[in-house]
This record gives sequence, structure tokens and C-alpha cells, in this order.
Amino acid sequence: MNYLVTGCSRGVGLEIVKVLLETGHCVYGVARSHSEEFKTLEHQYAGHLFFKSVDLSDAENVREEVFKEFVTNRIVLDGYVNNAATAYDDIVTNLNAEKLKAMYNVNVFTPMMITKYAIRNMLLHKTRGCIVHISSISAHTGYKGLAMYASSKGALEAFSKNTAREWGELGIRSNVVVPGFMETAMSSTLTQEQKDRIYKRTSLKRATDIRSVAYTVAFLLSEKAASITGQNIHVDNGTI
Ligand SMILES: NC(=O)c1ccc[n+]([C@@H]2O[C@H](COP(=O)([O-])OP(=O)(O)OC[C@H]3O[C@@H](n4cnc5c(N)ncnc54)[C@H](OP(=O)(O)O)[C@@H]3O)[C@@H](O)[C@H]2O)c1
Repeated sequence: MNYLVTGCSRGVGLEIVKVLLETGHCVYGVARSHSEEFKTLEHQYAGHLFFKSVDLSDAENVREEVFKEFVTNRIVLDGYVNNAATAYDDIVTNLNAEKLKAMYNVNVFTPMMITKYAIRNMLLHKTRGCIVHISSISAHTGYKGLAMYASSKGALEAFSKNTAREWGELGIRSNVVVPGFMETAMSSTLTQEQKDRIYKRTSLKRATDIRSVAYTVAFLLSEKAASITGQNIHVDNGTI
């Protein structure tokens, strides 16, 4: 199967790429930086892994840069994993419109546009394809300073549910994985005290394992999940 994964250079995206490669799939990865870890995988899985450096902050570029120059119509796309994101953290009274727009471009507008072209590819090849968006537990539980970021994930969840309704008749599925806090670059600005407070809100009292998130994504993309669509699957150590 051929999968497009955004934000493949590190963190959760890189882990998703690893799991998909380990299970014999081909991955088309997109991020701004061509990381050393990704390059190592390219050597290990030559012919199965491809990379294009794209800045996903401009939804207008997506057709040209991703679908005309990389995942062209000659490629039968079986799935799209929307993982790339940025976090704009601040309290609401400090909200800055430019920063908000910049985050929404990467987290919401570009993924919507990629979904459009991914579905068009699936229609062209009559593929019963699958879309998986990566959301965040913050959209469900709320954390001080994450209102803007969480709202972008809430938008994705609504988009996914409606995409599932719209295209289900043609066998195309759309689901969301909702991870809890993970130890990645995105959460690296938090102090240990802040992290401990967050982990206390989970049943398992620890950070969410990125491997568990990646396996869930791979499961949703697979035939094993053929009857699952329009769902949000929480992988969050039981956050309350
Ligand atoms: N970390 C957490 O605690 C946590 C919790 C819940 C949900 N999530 C979600 O999980 C997903 C992965 O997060 P992570 O923790 O792995 O984050 P991360 O380590 O910061 O990785 C983010 C990825 O997105 C890419 N990216 C960011 N801006 C981009 C842009 N403008 N154009 C292209 N690529 C861009 C980055 O690549 P380049 O920098 O090379 O472009 C990188 O590969 C995100 O959707 C995040 O919202 C994270």
C-alpha cells in the first residue's frame, strides 16, 4: 500500500513511517527538513520510502508541490496521515491574530486541501482509501494555554467526521487518533513540574508512548479497521 505521511522528519510522524515500513508498505513523507533519522530509513528501505521537502504553511502550494511533483496521479494512494502540526501556546487574553493564522494554516487549512487531492487520487484509482488525522487530547479535556491549539484540533475532528459521512459510500474512511501528551520536540518546552501535573491527569500516570500512537494509526489504515470510520480513537493513557 502507498501512504502519504506529513511531518515525517521526527516525533510521531517518524514513528508512523517506521511502523508502516516494518509492515511492508511504501511511504511518501513530507516535512520541511530531511532529517538524519529519515535518511537512515531511506537507506534501510530503499525503493519503499520517498521524501519531499515542503513547507505546509501555504495551502495554495499543496496541489503543485505535493500532488503534481510528488504523489502524482500515477501513484495509487491508499491513505493519508495528517500528522504535521505546530502548537501556538498562550493564554487567550494574549491572542495574536497572525500567530493564530500561521498555526491554522499548518494544522487545518493545508490538511483540508491535502484531503481534497488525496480523495481525488482515490476516486481516480477507485481506491477504498483511508485518512487518519492526528488530533490532541487538549481538544477534549482542556489545558491552560492550549485554547488556540486545541481549537485547531477540534476543527480537524469535525472535518474528519463529515468527510467520513460524505465519502463512506465509496468505501473511503476517515478517522482521528487523539494522543495524550508525548515526549517529543513539541512538548519539550514544558518543565518537569508541568509534565508531572499533566501525567497526574492520566490513569497510567505517564507520557503517552509514541509507538502506541503509531500502531493505532497503522491499524486504522489497515483492512483490520475496515468497519471503522468517522471515529476519534483516544491513545492517551486514560486521560481525565
Ligand atoms: N507532543 C505531544 O505531546 C502531542 C500531544 C498530542 C498531539 N500531538 C500531535 O501529534 C502530531 C505530531 O506531533 P509531534 O509531537 O511529533 O511534533 P514534532 O516533534 O514537533 O513534529 C512535528 C512534525 O511536523 C512537521 N512540520 C511542522 N511544521 C511544518 C510545516 N510548516 N511544513 C511541513 N512540516 C511541518 C515537522 O517537520 P519540519 O520541522 O522538518 O518541517 C515535524 O516532522 C501533531 O499533530 C501534534 O499536534 C502531539
